[in-house]
Amino acid sequence: MARNLVILTGAGISQESGLETFRDADGIWAKVRVEDVATPEGFARDPVLVHGFYNQRRRRLLSDTVVPNPAHHALARLERAWAQAGAGAFLLVTQNIDDLHERAGSEAIVHMHGEMLKARCMACEAVLPWHDDLTVEAICPACGERGGLRPHVVWFGEMPFEMDRIFEALGRADLFLSIGTSGNVYPASAFVELARAAGAHTVELNLEPSQGAALFAEARHGPASEVVPHYAEALIDAAARLRS
Ligand code: APR
Repeated sequence: MARNLVILTGAGISQESGLETFRDADGIWAKVRVEDVATPEGFARDPVLVHGFYNQRRRRLLSDTVVPNPAHHALARLERAWAQAGAGAFLLVTQNIDDLHERAGSEAIVHMHGEMLKARCMACEAVLPWHDDLTVEAICPACGERGGLRPHVVWFGEMPFEMDRIFEALGRADLFLSIGTSGNVYPASAFVELARAAGAHTVELNLEPSQGAALFAEARHGPASEVVPHYAEALIDAAARLRS
């Protein structure tokens, strides 16, 4: 029975909730350039364009039609079952900047690429909940600075958040699940190798084989809303047997 569980999710887990992925044929990077909207240089060059990019995605996320799907709910159930069974450590690392894991009830979450529903003040570094449009005239509620607010997200060339906590969890992992990610972006794409080095069993749950598919010991391919609940239920059953 695997004890310490680390899960990595990417845009694919939120696709069936109505949020776009990045590298699928109709993905975000087929419509806008990374350099323009997801780099510090792009923000410095045209903050209005970058705010507009995230404002449109934030409004979409907050619309009534975007809700957690069965995959998000299955991971929340798995987290509760893991704790109830005392099965071991549990950490959900997401590359996603949406709040669908939270809305499904997950708690042990690390948003390594930040969160779309938060803003950060470049003057005082305050991180603030932010559900409205962000603009270049916005005033920081913490320090009063005008025009210093940016989306609290990680752009290309910036350090992801909480990497020490993530590396520590991977170093102790017995089971590593990678869900809905293409394995294109470092350091998340290297997590499977760190988990393998720790002796963990590694599983890819994805619509199709990812770039790093060959690195996984096991794979289940199909829509996350089908594949994730099925795999999670098997782990929940195993955790319950552990408890009994
Ligand atoms: N169910 C399961 N997997 C799916 C589904 C689905 N319904 N739809 C798409 N996928 C898979 C795709 O096959 C692909 O492998 O999800 C993956 C999405 O890959 P990307 O679009 O590259 O998204 P992601 O891996 O999360 O990107 C990582 O790149 O641009 C940056 O910061 C951005 O966090 C993002 C990072």
